[in-house]
Amino acid sequence: MNTNAFRKLSYGVYIVSAWDNGRATGCTANSAMQITSTPATIAVSINHNNYTNKCIQDSGRFAVSILSEQSDPSIIGTFGFQSGETVNKFDSVAYELKGYMPVVKDSCAYIVCEVIDKMETETHTVFLGKVVDADVLSDQDPMTYAYYHNVVKGKSPKNAPTYIPEAQESKATEKWVCGICGYVYEGDTPFEELPEDYTCPVCKQPKEIFVKK
Ligand SMILES: Cc1cc2nc3c(=O)[nH]c(=O)nc-3n(C[C@H](O)[C@H](O)[C@H](O)COP(=O)(O)O)c2cc1C
Repeated sequence: MNTNAFRKLSYGVYIVSAWDNGRATGCTANSAMQITSTPATIAVSINHNNYTNKCIQDSGRFAVSILSEQSDPSIIGTFGFQSGETVNKFDSVAYELKGYMPVVKDSCAYIVCEVIDKMETETHTVFLGKVVDADVLSDQDPMTYAYYHNVVKGKSPKNAPTYIPEAQESKATEKWVCGICGYVYEGDTPFEELPEDYTCPVCKQPKEIFVKK
């Protein structure tokens, strides 16, 4: 079996949000897809270890904020590399209420769902949601997963269904890698010569978090 075939699947980059006892929270996800149009349903796949999984179960609803190519990439880091169990992710990311759910303002569209079914796999819950509200917020192009990897140069953590262990990724000779989100610096200026206030464009961590690999 050649699992590189999975890399040919295309996805978007989304923030899947829910409530945690009245507090908005959520996680980055690429695994969202439309299942039917009438009635409109979509599905998301959320790791059992993600706090968002529990919050979707408790809320009975979830919202999918569709990020655009112009969305601040640090939103992906904020929601994708730390847990809402210990961090108030929406403290640094503006949201508005749509269909009673928190939706990221800096996104190009949103879909709000009521959970109508779910399927357990070994690692993830696939939530099936009946769409109760949806709208387009801007005409910007949605960010694809390929754009996130190729242009933003972002990575995916273990809990993402598309996670690829580092050993299987192509190796450059020497690279500076963000110790939090795995972003690989590839700018023209040598990493050592970057200003001291340089921060990771994905998760906003300081320069000293980077490690040479
Ligand atoms: C680009 C990207 C895609 C991701 N896709 C998914 C996904 O589809 N499903 C999932 O469960 N986790 C996914 N993750 C991982 C979660 O966002 C991550 O584990 C997060 O820290 C969970 O936060 P929580 O504990 O607050 O729910 C993805 C992360 C990134 C950066």
